[in-house]
Amino acid sequence: MKNQLLSINDLSKDDVLSILSTAAELERITEGPTKKLPTLRGRTVVNLFFEDSTRTRISFETAAKRLSADVINFSAKGSSVSKGESLKDTAQTLQAIGADAVVIRHGSSGAAQRLSDSGWINATVINAGDGTHEHPTQALLDAFTISKRFPERKSDFSGLKVAIVGDILHSRVARSNVLLLTKLGASVTLIAPPTLLPVGVESWPVLVSYDLDEELPEFDVVMMLRIQLERMQNFYFPSEREYSRRYGLNEDRLLRMKQSGIVMHPGPMNRGLEISAASADSSRSVIVNQVGNGVSVRMAVLYLLLGGASLSEVSQ
Ligand code: CP
Repeated sequence: MKNQLLSINDLSKDDVLSILSTAAELERITEGPTKKLPTLRGRTVVNLFFEDSTRTRISFETAAKRLSADVINFSAKGSSVSKGESLKDTAQTLQAIGADAVVIRHGSSGAAQRLSDSGWINATVINAGDGTHEHPTQALLDAFTISKRFPERKSDFSGLKVAIVGDILHSRVARSNVLLLTKLGASVTLIAPPTLLPVGVESWPVLVSYDLDEELPEFDVVMMLRIQLERMQNFYFPSEREYSRRYGLNEDRLLRMKQSGIVMHPGPMNRGLEISAASADSSRSVIVNQVGNGVSVRMAVLYLLLGGASLSEVSQ
């Protein structure tokens, strides 16, 4: 496995399976009496967040602390970035304090790659979401959540039908999930109005539909995406009401889903826009599970990339 995680393309299928099985093992260990493992004692993990986050930042912090790493949380708001300090100077500051891993979220696509390629730091770089490009640990926690809900498939998703619905254009979660879920063998259908699909989507390894109702009963997984109003300078649909009517997951659609079908959403949700409150809170929803699974998956990523002490030794 490479010592950085910038894109799902950095991972082979075996790497993915190793992360998922390590996450399951870490979950098993930390659900027992051993809540905290000494495996990353003496290592420093910096959460470098130039964009807002709740789930990703908190779960990386929790994951690093459960592995006994020291954690520094850096938010651009309230730092010298707001005085104009560059990414380079910020990175060199982190190098000076001895960061072993930098978990970076940035509004610009390619920022994590830039940090990794720059030579400004020696630390392992983990992409926690860069612009509209990728969010690899979100896709990994989504795959982990799916594998737990469909245990008979283990980590082979051949035959599993996944719909990713909504604002594909602005979604780094969709890009990482397409790469990862197809790597594991799933069939992925993107469902969105034409205005919310990226140019060149025909070359992605997916099916594309403009109609949520057409195949809804066929899907095992319906992954709803947030409408990213903050990234929209133009009008992409006539009105929120119209969008919700055509592409929102509501109670009627929920009833038409496959008996075993599950509802996912990476969060944060626009309740009442892409997903109704009843759908988000229904028994089909695994949205809260996704957040919890994020901790185990991020523990696995930190553990494997930073080469922590053997789990069999530390979990005795
Ligand atoms: N899913 C996700 O990235 O959520 P946050 O923006 O809260 O981290």
